[in-house]
Amino acid sequence: MGKILESLQNTVIAGFVLVVVVIAIMTKGFAGVDFDPAFFARYIHVLAGVMWIGLLWYFNFVQIPTMPSIPDEQKPAIGKHIAPKALWWFRWGAMFTLLSGLWLASANGYIVDALTLAEGTRSIGLGMWMAIIMWFNVWFVIWPNQKIALGIVEADADAKPAAARKAMLFSRTNTLLSIPMLYCMVSGQNGGAGW
Ligand code: HEM
Repeated sequence: MGKILESLQNTVIAGFVLVVVVIAIMTKGFAGVDFDPAFFARYIHVLAGVMWIGLLWYFNFVQIPTMPSIPDEQKPAIGKHIAPKALWWFRWGAMFTLLSGLWLASANGYIVDALTLAEGTRSIGLGMWMAIIMWFNVWFVIWPNQKIALGIVEADADAKPAAARKAMLFSRTNTLLSIPMLYCMVSGQNGGAGW
């Protein structure tokens, strides 16, 4: 067990092996439930979404509020090592969530209705629009400004604080949007499905 848990890669593989076992137990031949590829895709979409929003909340609930109390000589550990790695999973989590979400809406045949907020798909449509705005903020505002703030691209020294502030404000905007977005996303299948 130690061999599995000491390696992140092995841990993730073990997680997927376990979910295959759970699916095998639940599906035909065991408990008589059919395997549904569309449902499995929704599960993958939620996994990607958790990676994205989990890191968004890590930045906003942990990293940003803690930065001012970290001594200056220790700040590079965050800026040079932790933040770039977290931002990689953050932006690709956002990309994977968007693509899997658009694919799901299209596979379920309601992508146009949802994006035009047609009756019956308004809950999921509203959630999709909020999440699409958040995705845009990640790729076209937060990431370009973080690259300047973290010194990943060349920029004037005085451009760095302005870029860091802009990235922070858009990250906060996404935290704000994540709260109603998740409500709409989940109510699309449940409480608000008829709206
Ligand atoms: C980035 C743009 C996004 C798009 C286009 C999108 C699209 C969708 C669609 C179309 C569904 C319904 C799937 C179905 O009918 O089978 C769905 C479900 C769901 N989405 Fe998203 N989504 C996005 C972002 C997110 C994010 C960031 C999260 C955060 C975790 C998320 C969490 C969920 C959850 C939990 C469900 C399942 C709801 C349920 O089964 O009750 N989505 N999404």
